[in-house]
Amino acid sequence: MRGILYQLVVVAAICALSSGSIPVASVFNATDAFLVCLVGAGVPPRLLQTPASPSYSALLLSSVRNLRYVTPGTPRPLAIVAAAEPAHAQAAVRCGRRHGVRVRARSGGHDYEGLSYASLDPRERFAVLDLAALRDVRVDSARAEAWAGSGATLGEVYYAVAAASRVLAFPAGICPTVGVGGHLSGGGFGTLMRRYGLAADNVIDAVLVDADGRLLNRTTMGEDLFWAIRGGGGESFGVVLSWKLRLVRVPETVTVFTVRRSIRQSASDLITKWQAIAPALPRDLILRVVVQNQHAQFEALFLGRCSRLLDHMRAHFPDLGVTQPDCEEISWIQSTVYFAFYSSSKPLELLLDRSGETRRYVKAKSDFVQEPIPRHVWENTWSWLEKPEAGLLILDPYGGRMGSISPSATPFPHRKGNLYNIQYYSYWFENGTAALEKRMTWVRGLYGQMEPYVSKNPRTGYINYKDLDLGTNELEDNNVTSYAKARIWGEKYFKGNFERLAAVKAMVDPDDFFRNEQSIPPLPAAKGWSSI
Ligand code: FDA
Repeated sequence: MRGILYQLVVVAAICALSSGSIPVASVFNATDAFLVCLVGAGVPPRLLQTPASPSYSALLLSSVRNLRYVTPGTPRPLAIVAAAEPAHAQAAVRCGRRHGVRVRARSGGHDYEGLSYASLDPRERFAVLDLAALRDVRVDSARAEAWAGSGATLGEVYYAVAAASRVLAFPAGICPTVGVGGHLSGGGFGTLMRRYGLAADNVIDAVLVDADGRLLNRTTMGEDLFWAIRGGGGESFGVVLSWKLRLVRVPETVTVFTVRRSIRQSASDLITKWQAIAPALPRDLILRVVVQNQHAQFEALFLGRCSRLLDHMRAHFPDLGVTQPDCEEISWIQSTVYFAFYSSSKPLELLLDRSGETRRYVKAKSDFVQEPIPRHVWENTWSWLEKPEAGLLILDPYGGRMGSISPSATPFPHRKGNLYNIQYYSYWFENGTAALEKRMTWVRGLYGQMEPYVSKNPRTGYINYKDLDLGTNELEDNNVTSYAKARIWGEKYFKGNFERLAAVKAMVDPDDFFRNEQSIPPLPAAKGWSSI
């Protein structure tokens, strides 16, 4: 009721304002001014939620994936703008700039550090621009292309593509509830990456709201900005509303298997061998590993039939002992259900369920591995994994198409020379600092132990597995993010591409309106950048 009253007040205020009868400053604080501006720009009041609105909390929590960022002490947005059309996003940016309210875009809400809906700075005045309703997926199977709204989930994209064709697919991540907006902004890899690269490698156009609130497409934004939004991380350059995707060919029948080997079944030997084998397999085959408890689970997708897959496994990795009964021949869309839910017989409609897994506390970190890690290190890892507070490791092999794309083709630089990515993933359900500290210590401890064996100078990580331990932004005196400080974390995610990203930022958002704890800073004018 309070929320409705508030909205009525705001609407009444607009009428009064437009008749010139009330001096603005005497009635409104900046939040009110922001809301009035939005309503004045045509955003229906029902799409605006403030902490006083009855559905504010439900909307705020609707796509939150990490309970670490919904504690009572976490600074909350002063408003949520639930955009229903592009003009609402444009209004949020324009009104935010005018009234000193920053805008955090949220698509699927899966950010590992909660940056799409929470701020670490209690002084930051920000609103969440929730894009969940902008989730149309339109597939043109004749051209093998699709437009997907940022608010769509990966599951919704996969479902729509498969509904249009049995031989088209889109190469992106494994979890179906991940949002298109954040995922494509940071790269996006999944089971098709060895054949087709990242999700971002397969974006051919986009519609973006820039820092002036203008709606731009690839032609009007130019190739530098178009380069930056395909892997440079969300939030830094504007709000991407939709993406044009190049769809890829898959056979009508693909093959999957999952085989689990315990430490007593030579899991350490198998992981040690896997490190050199998996990145060199034919590109139609991905063999990833989930290492948990006291076993290694080998999970494969092959773009072909079981008999050929078994030929490859015998030729390249006979020790794993994969046999015909391990194989399941299914369609590509069933394989997306298989990897998400560990069963191919579950209904495809599960891909459309936006609620996903039970809410949990999460901390993740990542590494890239360039030389096989010695066997004794894997032996030692089991003692970490048997602790009660242990999480798990996910090893995603690169090579194939990933290794043949230039490291500067998109901002994602981890291409040739990387054998695989490690994700250290810890999750828990218990509330409280004791549980938090135990889990954080575990994940940081194991990450620390791995340091001698992973990429160096810098030790790199994946922007979509966001990790604030790598460093957070600081402001210069002119209220712009410090480039020098941001380099500390930025070069870990982007290596040599970081400077170019900062140059693009300086060009498109020199005032640093779009920012968060790990957004790209504008490159200081003195540094310049030659090819822009
Ligand atoms: P969210 O909405 O939280 O946004 C993430 C960041 O992007 C925020 O900074 C946000 O402000 C910004 N942003 C969001 N929408 C934007 C837009 N439209 N325009 C500009 N900026 C925008 N990754 C992977 O590569 N492969 C995988 O298999 C998985 N699997 C996976 C499983 C689970 C359970 C989680 C929690 C995460 C993953 N990820 C992943 C990581 C995932 O790709 C990453 O967290 C994405 O950024 C999530 O995108 P969302 O839109 O859901 O996040």
